[in-house]
Amino acid sequence: MGFFKRDFLLLTLVLLFCPIPSFSDPSSVSSEQLSEIPKNFLNFAKKSDLFEWMVGIRRKIHENPELGYEEFETSKLIRAELDEMGIPYKYPIAVTGVVGFVGSGSPPFVALRADMDALPLQEMVEWEHKSKIRGKMHACGHDGHVAMLLGAAKILQGHHELIEGTVVLVFQPAEEGGAGAQQMIDAGVLQNVEAIFGLHVDPDIPIGQVASRPGPIMAGSGFFEAVISGKGGHAAIPQHSIDPILAASSIIISLQHLVSREADPLDSQVVTVAKFQGSGAFNVIPDSVTIGGTFRAFSKESFLQLKQRIEEVITGQANVQKCNATVDFLEEDPVTVNDKGLHEHFRNVAGDMLGLLNTKDMQPLMGSEDFSFYQEVIPGYFFFLGMRNETNGRLASFHSPAFLVILAYYKTSHIPWFSYPHFLWQSF
Ligand SMILES: *[C@@H]1O[C@H](CO)[C@@H](O)[C@H](O)[C@H]1NC(C)=O
Ligand SMILES: *[C@@H]1O[C@H](CO)[C@@H](O)[C@H](O)[C@H]1NC(C)=O
Repeated sequence: MGFFKRDFLLLTLVLLFCPIPSFSDPSSVSSEQLSEIPKNFLNFAKKSDLFEWMVGIRRKIHENPELGYEEFETSKLIRAELDEMGIPYKYPIAVTGVVGFVGSGSPPFVALRADMDALPLQEMVEWEHKSKIRGKMHACGHDGHVAMLLGAAKILQGHHELIEGTVVLVFQPAEEGGAGAQQMIDAGVLQNVEAIFGLHVDPDIPIGQVASRPGPIMAGSGFFEAVISGKGGHAAIPQHSIDPILAASSIIISLQHLVSREADPLDSQVVTVAKFQGSGAFNVIPDSVTIGGTFRAFSKESFLQLKQRIEEVITGQANVQKCNATVDFLEEDPVTVNDKGLHEHFRNVAGDMLGLLNTKDMQPLMGSEDFSFYQEVIPGYFFFLGMRNETNGRLASFHSPAFLVILAYYKTSHIPWFSYPHFLWQSF
């Protein structure tokens, strides 16, 4: 047996997909030998009731959604399953996080990550396993991500003697704000880890396809909030007031110049003001106005430039209107940047399994993902897994109260494939 380091990396990716792998350097290891491994995994998955078990886990988590850093029951369920499988783990990490270890316990270490948190939304989907918690819902598929990682854990553990190295199973809290990934890193989760993989289900990509790209794939994201202070008074006697409503309006217009006039048109960026709070009355000029919004960019430089200019424009434009302004920058997610070397592995493995036609390159998305924190520390790779089935119509988007995780049964050459992003779909 004896894999070299890079072969272990490859093996881990194989685990993500369970295809028959191709090897760019067949001299380093017998390809016959390695291709047996995914076959074993497949047989293991087919013989057991593993898929039904994963569906059950996903539904249980779906019924009991928990927000960031409150994933106590989800975490308990994960630990109970890891106990059942005999997989050692560390807990608690970052309040509710769990990190399991499968394999020899020695290097190389490669991590697979799933996020656990739900959203503050009331589910609108009427089905047997609808959320039982009012105002909370898994509307971003993290329940499915957890079930998939547990599925991978079970297969890995069933073949642990083949693993010369260690797969680190990262169940993290608070992806939807709260920087759960950063908290996990601060707790030392990436120590000795050489690479990390993550995925997201996607309602716009057809079932049976995966999509990703090397380099930036999701934007860096920041939030800002500003208080613009003037002098309140009667709305009919404006000359005795300093109107912060009008000042805030000028500020918002000026902020729109940052992308349209200062940014390279080929370097995509967004500035949106989404919050505007003034007086509650028709006839009162308020003392102050609060505005807030988000900004996005695909490079650190563009992100920092936007941030600096947002502050300058708000304070400068407020002064023009005889007001004062203070600007706060809140939570930030870095740009999600895929490692170029891992992209080659991804294409080889996914291409072998699904065919290169189903292994798509995609445009970057303006959304953000806190997987980016891991990628700032070690090489990482993030990709999307399709859920769209034309015969069932268009699926609701991420963070919609009508969000579904769909379920299909994917077959390649009549062999049901299985994996972490299990390509063996069924009514999930
Ligand atoms: C703005 O700040 C200056 C300096 O502190 C102060 O003199 C002025 O009154 C403030 N203006 C408003 C409208 O709050
Ligand atoms: C799409 O949905 C239809 C109807 O539910 C189903 O019969 C078909 O197998 C699905 N296609 C795939 C690729 O899963």
